[in-house]
Amino acid sequence: MSLVKQLFMQPPSPEQTITSSWANLHNIQISIKRDDLLHPIISGNKWRKLKYALLEASENDVKHIISFGGGYSNHLHALGYCCRQLGIRFSAIVRGDYSQNLSPMLQDLLNWETDVQYVDRKTYQQRAEPQYLEILTTQYPEALLIPEGGSQQLALRGVAEIIQELTQQYDYILAPVASGGTLAGLIDGLAQSEIDTSSQILGIAVLKGHGYLEQLVGALLSDRHHRVDWKINHEYQFGGYAKYNNELSKFCAEFEQQNHITIEPVYSGKLFYALYQLTISGHFPSGSRVLALHTGGLQGAR
Ligand SMILES: Cc1ncc(COP(=O)(O)O)c(C=O)c1O
Repeated sequence: MSLVKQLFMQPPSPEQTITSSWANLHNIQISIKRDDLLHPIISGNKWRKLKYALLEASENDVKHIISFGGGYSNHLHALGYCCRQLGIRFSAIVRGDYSQNLSPMLQDLLNWETDVQYVDRKTYQQRAEPQYLEILTTQYPEALLIPEGGSQQLALRGVAEIIQELTQQYDYILAPVASGGTLAGLIDGLAQSEIDTSSQILGIAVLKGHGYLEQLVGALLSDRHHRVDWKINHEYQFGGYAKYNNELSKFCAEFEQQNHITIEPVYSGKLFYALYQLTISGHFPSGSRVLALHTGGLQGAR
């Protein structure tokens, strides 16, 4: 049985055009790629980034996967669920000790029999360092290591499929950026696309990472990506990862009420707030067609 069927995934995700007074006023067409609807648990960019890693794991009969994330991580949540469904042992290395104060995400992981290992922040900082990874590989020689956020070379192929699914051409494609794999995958998709390379891929930073995020994305790209126009806007990170204020909360509530699309303040809220601000400030020329990628992540807001 294919992985898509085994996990009850429902690609392609819908592409929905919304009407709003602020977009109409500036003559901007706003569409949303609803990756949040791909699956109730493996939502959004998680499926896109994990698809080919999981396919490779099942082809190679991998029995154990290890990955990394915070106490509310959407990535650990989706991967933990996938491993449970596929009968693969999963070890989650979690930043900080939540043992006395489980988040709903961690409670789910424990219900799915994940081996949860809490590490201090200093240890967690080494999550991508070869020496630390070598220690894990020696300890668990059979295990497959998947980096934080699932952002690795293999992730690009799955994310690139978003571009292949699009039913029309866009002038701008917007997505939130944290570990960089999603943006890199969109750039990859555009680089491969025969019809449309004129769109600009515009990442919206959800954390303080001027220069750092560009480096993360750049490290996943190669020469063939040079012709794609991409950049990251850092103006809407609200002071850092998972930080937000009343204005953003209010915006999320109003957006949801007007469009019947749920968003949360960590990723999609910052994305749509940026889209709103950029639209009303005249950043997009009149007549532009703008696509925003809803990357899901609603479990984190429970
Ligand atoms: C819901 C959601 N949206 C967007 C992102 C950002 O994607 P990336 O880490 O690939 O930059 C993440 C992951 O960090 C996420 O969980």
